[in-house]
Amino acid sequence: MNEHILIVDDEEMIRELLSAALQQEGYHCYLAENVDAAFTILADQNIDLVISDIMMPGKSGVDLLKDLKQVNTDIAVLMITGLSDMNTAMDCIHLGADDYIAKPFSITRVILTVRNMLAKRSLAIEKKNYQISLEYKVMEQTEQIRRTMNDLHEAYDNTLTALVKALDAREKEVGSHSERVMNYTLLMASKLRITGRALEILAKGALLHDTGKIGISDNILLKPGKLNEHEWLLMRRHPEIGYAILAEIDFLKGPAEIILTHHERFDGTGYPRGLKGEQIPIGSRIFGLVDTLDAMTSDRPYRKALPFDSVTSEIRKYRGSQFDPEISDLFLSIPRHQWEECSGKKFF
Ligand SMILES: [Fe+2]
Ligand SMILES: [Fe+2]
Repeated sequence: MNEHILIVDDEEMIRELLSAALQQEGYHCYLAENVDAAFTILADQNIDLVISDIMMPGKSGVDLLKDLKQVNTDIAVLMITGLSDMNTAMDCIHLGADDYIAKPFSITRVILTVRNMLAKRSLAIEKKNYQISLEYKVMEQTEQIRRTMNDLHEAYDNTLTALVKALDAREKEVGSHSERVMNYTLLMASKLRITGRALEILAKGALLHDTGKIGISDNILLKPGKLNEHEWLLMRRHPEIGYAILAEIDFLKGPAEIILTHHERFDGTGYPRGLKGEQIPIGSRIFGLVDTLDAMTSDRPYRKALPFDSVTSEIRKYRGSQFDPEISDLFLSIPRHQWEECSGKKFF
């Protein structure tokens, strides 16, 4: 309550009359004898409602209305018009006046109108504030959900990394083969301008490529000598085993395709399905190259790591047969030091 009302009228008697009646009702009144004086008050005070005469020396009530509605649409405006001036009254309504009263007016009528206007206005403000607080709430909750999703995402990633570390540890890998091939894959993908979801699928596919080895027994996986034909047959099932494990998980469906095809070869001589060329997902065609890089530049029980040059000559040799020719060219265009930065070690 105790709302602030600004009365703008060039006739002192009307100003005094209105303010006396409205103060009686508990409103706080400010008085202005012209439009300029009105704006001085509007700049300083929190005015809830303006009562303005139309015909005044200098700027008119219509000017006041126009300017006021441009800076503040929350202030209610009641226009006082002459009886002969009905067209102007309608104009005022179009310009955003909330109501008008014709002269000569009864004070009771003014008080009633003011009361109604202020009630309507406070409802409108309440509604607006409610909307703002609603929007804020939605924003806050969206942010909360985003944070939770991020945490969840991170937890997924950590779980996958733990799984991969366990797999690598079982094969007594030095460092993490899986993480290195993932990094190499990301380097190639960045040159191919692969981004967003597709990039994520590629990275996870490379990281998890050998998940299926979980289903291969120790005496085959860790056998120091050569595998016999039967053992080799079992070993070659690891892409399908990995696919069967991960394709069930919704967010790993894409990576699972890469896992299934990571031993396919460009010329169709790979396994398990003997896919050819573009039938092989691009992630797996990239993987074929970076897996060779990592295999050749890592120590093996039966040999030391090979020099980087032997990797590039291997890729040149099998460009177009084992390896996708375009991706081979891309591989060969990447300078050695970038691969080294990626792997975290120097090649021979
Ligand atoms: Fe594999
Ligand atoms: Fe591997």
